[in-house]
Amino acid sequence: MSLNYKASLLQKIEQRTAVVGVIGLGYVGLPLALAFADRGMRVLGFDTDPKKQELLNAGRSYIQHIPAERVKKALEDGRFAATAEFGRLRECDAILICVPTPLTETRDPDLSYVAATTREIKAVLRQGQLIVLESTTYPGTTDELVKETLESTGLRSGRDFFLAFSPEREDPGNSSFTTTTIPKVVGGCDPDAGDLAEALYAQAIAKIVRVSSAAAAEAAKITENVFRAVNIALVNELKVVYERMGIDVWEVLDAAATKPFGFMRFNPGPGWGGHCIPLDPFYLAWKARQYGADTKFIELAGEVNRAMPDYVVERVQHGLNLHKKSVNGSRVLLLGMAYKKNIGDTRESPAYPIARTLIGLGAELGYHDPLVSVLPDTRSWPGHPGLRSQPLTAEVLARQDAVVIVTDHSGVDYDLVLSAAPLVIDARGVYRAPHPKVIKA
Ligand SMILES: NC(=O)c1ccc[n+]([C@@H]2O[C@H](COP(=O)([O-])OP(=O)(O)OC[C@H]3O[C@@H](n4cnc5c(N)ncnc54)[C@H](O)[C@@H]3O)[C@@H](O)[C@H]2O)c1
Repeated sequence: MSLNYKASLLQKIEQRTAVVGVIGLGYVGLPLALAFADRGMRVLGFDTDPKKQELLNAGRSYIQHIPAERVKKALEDGRFAATAEFGRLRECDAILICVPTPLTETRDPDLSYVAATTREIKAVLRQGQLIVLESTTYPGTTDELVKETLESTGLRSGRDFFLAFSPEREDPGNSSFTTTTIPKVVGGCDPDAGDLAEALYAQAIAKIVRVSSAAAAEAAKITENVFRAVNIALVNELKVVYERMGIDVWEVLDAAATKPFGFMRFNPGPGWGGHCIPLDPFYLAWKARQYGADTKFIELAGEVNRAMPDYVVERVQHGLNLHKKSVNGSRVLLLGMAYKKNIGDTRESPAYPIARTLIGLGAELGYHDPLVSVLPDTRSWPGHPGLRSQPLTAEVLARQDAVVIVTDHSGVDYDLVLSAAPLVIDARGVYRAPHPKVIKA
């Protein structure tokens, strides 16, 4: 029987008549939905946020690197619509889950979004559907949480419906790679599910990397993020060591990176940020504990990277001290609130702990970020709603006691910063040559 379902879905996929449902239209889901729509497939996008549905159905985009024209074109061609009517999941032949996977306050996995979405799918699940989880999570989530919930309908994975995991590797702001050109890892809970997921993604994505199971695909994604987290921590630790030795870590890295083999460059910074690197490794750490295994590298990376915002604040204190000033009462401008350059995303940005600590020490804090015009009142930034980006003029800069480069967006006039500000704390290696006004952090 499953052969019939498989063959008929495969045919629909290959003829591009399969309807694709994407749940969660954020940084991952929206570009993915548009990638399938661009290839001529009908896509239904589901999101619980009414603002997002409204904007998308009006042909607008809320993600800076996705032009509204792409949304408009997909709408006009009748290939895309956004909805919150989860009953319409019934219309979809393939359903891709792209909802958040955050951590709880105690840094345990918060799978409540995945669980809620799975229950929505369960309510409409029918034979012959393909379900793919894309949200980053610990190995076993698809086989345990998703499969068990969907099988409680009486339908069987691999017989009645097909279940797979395929991690997103979106890198917002990276113009060299897009959703369609980044190779996509795919693993099914069974070989038929893997075949179907592979065939589906091959319609929109240039290269598919097939692995033997959903768990292997889950582990591949988390391995990539653990690798980044650990290497970021390593260079951050070296930065502090070399600073004490009077050695410039940027010069060291420039030199080390000339080795044509066996070295991969990572840059130090004010900490780690974004929806992935500070969070995902702890999904694995949590799961490993169930197996009695330790993840010492992950915990250590967390310790080192979480200490970096305080290190930046220490460097601010040091710089002000050289000017015979205290943080208390000083005007400090943070340059760049986003967690990385050239994007407007402030989720988990190290700029927040830096800002909170400086305010706690009595600084008069402002910021400039060309891509973040206002800081909303969120969990990362409670109590100071509506703080707005100041213009980066010579007058504003000259009024500061210190300017802290937290994120090195392109297009900022760093020469002006250096000439007009009395003191610059540089956490991103913007100024390579030593300068009396610059303190590297
Ligand atoms: N942002 C990235 O660069 C990136 C890269 C790789 C993987 N990921 C992973 O992809 C997943 C999604 O991340 P994101 O950055 O797109 O998050 P996001 O917050 O940008 O988007 C998630 C969307 O899901 C919606 N949503 C929440 N609950 C929902 C529900 N029950 N039903 C329908 N919609 C719901 C939200 O309104 C939001 O629009 C996460 O697991 C993340 O770790 C993200």
